[in-house]
Amino acid sequence: MAEQSYPQRKIEMESAKELKRKKRMKLLVYALAFAIFQTIVILIFSFTVMRIKNPKFRVGSITVEELTVTAPNSSSFNIILNAQVSVKNTNFGHFKFDNTTISFDYGGVGVGDAFVAKGRSKARSTKKMNVTVEMNSNNIPNNSSLQSEIESGFLALTCHSKLSGKVQLMKLIKKKKSAEMKCAMLVNLVTKAVQDIKCQ
Ligand SMILES: *[C@@H]1O[C@H](CO)[C@@H](O)[C@H](O)[C@H]1NC(C)=O
Ligand SMILES: *[C@@H]1O[C@H](CO)[C@@H](O)[C@H](O)[C@H]1NC(C)=O
Ligand SMILES: *[C@@H]1O[C@H](CO)[C@@H](O)[C@H](O)[C@H]1NC(C)=O
Ligand SMILES: *[C@@H]1O[C@H](CO)[C@@H](O)[C@H](O)[C@H]1NC(C)=O
Ligand SMILES: *[C@@H]1O[C@H](CO)[C@@H](O)[C@H](O)[C@H]1NC(C)=O
Repeated sequence: MAEQSYPQRKIEMESAKELKRKKRMKLLVYALAFAIFQTIVILIFSFTVMRIKNPKFRVGSITVEELTVTAPNSSSFNIILNAQVSVKNTNFGHFKFDNTTISFDYGGVGVGDAFVAKGRSKARSTKKMNVTVEMNSNNIPNNSSLQSEIESGFLALTCHSKLSGKVQLMKLIKKKKSAEMKCAMLVNLVTKAVQDIKCQ
């Protein structure tokens, strides 16, 4: 009996040792896997959530509220536009911005400004606002191509603006960010509509 049980016990002891070794190995593999997982999570986090990007400031649609043009002798215009502007914030924290103005130009000459009130664009969302701009041709020199453009039925305008503010992440990180707008458009004087709005 004893002759039989001795090697038997030895085998049992060895398999117990083997089991312990396997268990330790398993733990090690788990720890390693966890460390790798954590590193990946941190990397993804720092490349997505923690990476703060500039919001986008754009003009969506524009409607004409009032439009009067005179031509040919004294070419001039008085136009009131209602523009829907948007602040697209792709960050994981809100973007709080200051008051600003959108300047409208004809041939590089200022024809009117739209006021944009300060506000905030929530995390990963787009804030839309309506702004009104009153434009006139008072500052346009009389040697410009305004008359011929009015006669053609289309008025080419541009607008530009800069929105400054801060992106705040998890109540901890605040970073100054800004969004620039630069758009071109055509005012159709016949249909009294704004078309071909193109923003950079
Ligand atoms: C406008 O111009 C036309 C010629 O192009 C002229 O006959 C007319 O008298 C002008 N009217 C005014 C108010 O200047
Ligand atoms: C922003 O505009 C509002 C409303 O016109 C005004 O009361 C406020 O003083 C302005 N803030 C700044 C910082 O200019
Ligand atoms: C902006 O104006 C359009 C119509 O001109 C209206 O449908 C829309 O609700 C307005 N949006 C805001 C945020 O006031
Ligand atoms: C253009 O404006 C100037 C003054 O700014 C004036 O002296 C000139 O006569 C005007 N020319 C025409 C063609 O109206
Ligand atoms: C218009 O007149 C101004 C001076 O009053 C001159 O500087 C400008 O070059 C002129 N523009 C054109 C298109 O003739």
